[in-house]
Amino acid sequence: MSETRLNTTGFSNEHDEEIEIKLRPAHFDEYIGQAKVKENMQVFVEAALRRGETLDHVLLFGQPGLGKTTLSTIIASAMNATLKVTTGPAIEKPGDIAAILNDLNEGDFLFIDEIHRLNRTVEEMLYSAMEDFVFDIIIGKGPGARSIRLELPRFTLIGATTRIGLLTAPLRDRFGVVHHLEPYSVEDLQKIVIRSAAVLGVEIEPEGAEEIARRARGTPRIVNRLLKRVRDFAQVRFDGVITLEVAQSSLDRLEIDRLGLDTVDKKILLAIIEKFGGGPVGLDTLAASTDEESGTLEDVVEPYLLQLGFIQRTPRGRIATHKAYTHLGLKSEHEGGQISLTET
Ligand code: ADE
Repeated sequence: MSETRLNTTGFSNEHDEEIEIKLRPAHFDEYIGQAKVKENMQVFVEAALRRGETLDHVLLFGQPGLGKTTLSTIIASAMNATLKVTTGPAIEKPGDIAAILNDLNEGDFLFIDEIHRLNRTVEEMLYSAMEDFVFDIIIGKGPGARSIRLELPRFTLIGATTRIGLLTAPLRDRFGVVHHLEPYSVEDLQKIVIRSAAVLGVEIEPEGAEEIARRARGTPRIVNRLLKRVRDFAQVRFDGVITLEVAQSSLDRLEIDRLGLDTVDKKILLAIIEKFGGGPVGLDTLAASTDEESGTLEDVVEPYLLQLGFIQRTPRGRIATHKAYTHLGLKSEHEGGQISLTET
């Protein structure tokens, strides 16, 4: 299988990207977690291979970092196919999608990350490509405009999104397979840490791996990032082995607490509590008052705080729960409808 990267994917530099790719499992049997999705996908891949057909279009959704790209790479590889990678916002004009589709060969996979960010015109051009493997190009403008129909090879589109709710029904309905990736258990993340440590050539004890897994908010991308930083501490400040103590001390230094909350999570919780009396507060107001992007709050920060039961979403906005106060070492007391704060 070969992979063509049509644009950058947000890695900070070449080296990080190389390591990231090395850490990614390349085959289903190396892929840890997401058991149901994995089993189903293996069946669909095998069925398509036996029939000598291409795979139906696949939509993967879930929080950032859960392995949507990794899984797509594995699926394409299992089909012995080429994967071409792009993102929704990179396809700005009809000409961009025309060029991408025109470059596809029979059986290729096209991966569109953040597919919810495709603009409407481009999205509509995808409908016939997905359904009938044809593509209409309009030439000229006004009354003289005419359309030319291009036949496309049969290909498989894999769409990935963090926001299934933002997808239009016509686009969603054109995917034959739709899978939701769930946050990973600590146990699965621990296995990923142990596998990644072996790939990186760093010695790790099971308790050290579990500690990193515990603080990785259910996300493989985060667990691997934490592992790389803990490895730095282990090699510079300790004797190179990642023990429980090394993991704890390194993660404390990185200000990642025992539940995986970082400084941004804490800033958001404290803002709800201290600036907005515990809430309710709307997401945009919260974003503006903390200098964070509301998209980041919604995609990255909020899902984990909701999962921990630290905030609740109500029609009037977000509310900090008692659990959040307790975790931050604060006490919430309802007095005459007001929440007052006391250090515990
Ligand atoms: N690295 C990142 N995600 C992984 C996964 N699901 N299994 C194994 N290694 C991984």
